[in-house]
Amino acid sequence: MDIDPAQVDRRSLYQWLIGCVVPRPIAWITTINEQQVVNLAPFSFFNGVTASPPIVSVAIAHRDPMKDTLRNLIANGEAVIHLAPSTAIEQVHQSGADYARHISEITELGLATIPSIRVRPPRLVDAQVALECRLLQTVPVGTPATTLCLLEVVHFHVADAVIGADGFPDAKLLRAPARLGGRNYLSAASWEVIEQPLQVVSAEKRLTR
Ligand SMILES: Cc1cc2nc3c(=O)[nH]c(=O)nc-3n(C[C@H](O)[C@H](O)[C@H](O)COP(=O)(O)O)c2cc1C
Repeated sequence: MDIDPAQVDRRSLYQWLIGCVVPRPIAWITTINEQQVVNLAPFSFFNGVTASPPIVSVAIAHRDPMKDTLRNLIANGEAVIHLAPSTAIEQVHQSGADYARHISEITELGLATIPSIRVRPPRLVDAQVALECRLLQTVPVGTPATTLCLLEVVHFHVADAVIGADGFPDAKLLRAPARLGGRNYLSAASWEVIEQPLQVVSAEKRLTR
């Protein structure tokens, strides 16, 4: 099948894109508003950008009214990005519903939080990875504009239980669920992790620097 984006309506284009770019990690994000209501929402247009300093990206689509996460980020620049535990797919999904601004998804879903170290939004107790972040830059992309948010990780929380033998996070232990096309999720309980050896390039074909 061949798709010309110019011939496809916006809704279908979204389905084509999210069906092709899979699996996507899910940023489960806490932010806080001026009334101190803690907001929680999932975002799968999420990835690492650079490691020095550690920066991640989250793309937040246009909505009228603006999505609470973006509004809070623009207002105070702080967020905690969690990787959801594998047992929380239903809660992740439900937290993406259209709750009114004064309603906290944390309370609605009965989740426990604890204070963060460097930012005001609290972090989720049950998340094995929580990245305390400050907003660095926003970039409008597309029409109506999605806001690409670049966030610097100012503190990492990683549960000892997901640290591997090399002293770094191990995907086999973390097993964070991921987002697929439609309303589908990848349950990482069944992930197969395949480790590869260091690549070898003969001396005459190797990049010289
Ligand atoms: C798994 C999942 C991933 C999502 N990813 C995105 C995303 O990358 N960008 C986006 O704008 N909305 C995304 N959404 C939709 C938002 O979560 C949804 O609009 C939510 O209501 C926003 O909440 P807020 O207004 O509290 O910020 C996603 C929803 C789900 C369930």
